[in-house]
Amino acid sequence: MSEKPFLRALKGETLERPPFWLMRQAGRYLPEYRATRAEAGGFLDLCFDPDRATEVTLQPIRRYGMDAAILFSDILVVPWGLGQELRFAEGEGPILPPIRDEAGMAGLRLDGLTERLAPVYETVRRLAAALPAETALIGFAGAPWTVACYMVEGRGGKEYLEIKSWAYRDPDGFGRLIDLLVEATVAHLSAQIAAGAEAVQIFDSWAGVLPEDQFRRWVVAPTKAIVAALRARHPGTPIIGFPRLAGPMAEPYVRETGVDCVGIDTAMPLGFAKARLQPLACVQGNLDPAWLVAGGEGLERAARAILEGLGDGPFVFNLGHGVVPRTPPENVARLAELIRGWRR
Ligand code: CP3
Repeated sequence: MSEKPFLRALKGETLERPPFWLMRQAGRYLPEYRATRAEAGGFLDLCFDPDRATEVTLQPIRRYGMDAAILFSDILVVPWGLGQELRFAEGEGPILPPIRDEAGMAGLRLDGLTERLAPVYETVRRLAAALPAETALIGFAGAPWTVACYMVEGRGGKEYLEIKSWAYRDPDGFGRLIDLLVEATVAHLSAQIAAGAEAVQIFDSWAGVLPEDQFRRWVVAPTKAIVAALRARHPGTPIIGFPRLAGPMAEPYVRETGVDCVGIDTAMPLGFAKARLQPLACVQGNLDPAWLVAGGEGLERAARAILEGLGDGPFVFNLGHGVVPRTPPENVARLAELIRGWRR
């Protein structure tokens, strides 16, 4: 059997019609997601319910036939599995009791992490059995820097002053939190791959808030360590890195981490991605999710510009960030149809 198109692209092939999936393709913009979510109760209950998590992962695939499904879970299950409390307040996002120094790390333990997260791997196993033969399954985790942002700030931040002041003031102490997260991330991704994930994505949503030297230390180095450990254990599994808002630092990120594919955000110029990133790795991105809200011919023009700008090299069509809740589902259908009909 020939390999799935999504995996071929990640391994460096240029396809006639690029494969596509959308970050946050499962979520509140779909009425069937809202129904399953309501049955589950809370968001975390949904993440840890293999039946329902499998169901919501499959929902967008049934509607739109993406080339890859992404496991339904969250990057914050890792701090939860390490022992930090976590809740999702309606309309507010995640809330955690913040860890502000090394003493605050006392309650965290790596031991038993994959046991606590067992329902996630059960979801992966069910998905691997349930997906259509041509659809690939993506596992994921947050990158240590981005996960630490939530652990230290205690919620989605704006200025990241708490985490930066710890990292800048006490790099050795903060480095121990990052080291713990490197190990936890390797264990979590490795367990997903063992359960049937065929590629993994490392989300570094807040990579772009750091100056160059700090970016190298807290974004590049931990990601490089994760990639090296996964390669040693699972040599055939492609790894996607998404250093959001990294700008020109995306180039050293790709060179030094060794990711197979780099996710680019909406602000990344196509010319830069084509000239500087695509010769090094497959590129994934980068339609503005706001185009899926706006719709119309503008959506089609913007999607075509990306296909034309990046379609002549190894490329996976995606958004530059996640689908937003107010997206009309019919705009996603229109985009899917356009991509499916496009040829280089
Ligand atoms: O479809 C998919 O992409 C797979 C599932 C997925 C979710 N979160 C589901 C989710 C993935 C890959 C994530 C990653 C994630 N989670 C990131 C990295 C990507 C990014 O968006 O930058 C981050 C930073 C988080 C942390 C997180 N989870 C936040 C800040 C929030 C609140 C914001 C929001 O949209 O409500 C979440 C909640 C969340 N994760 C939802 C979903 C579908 C919404 C929860 C709900 O149903 O109420």
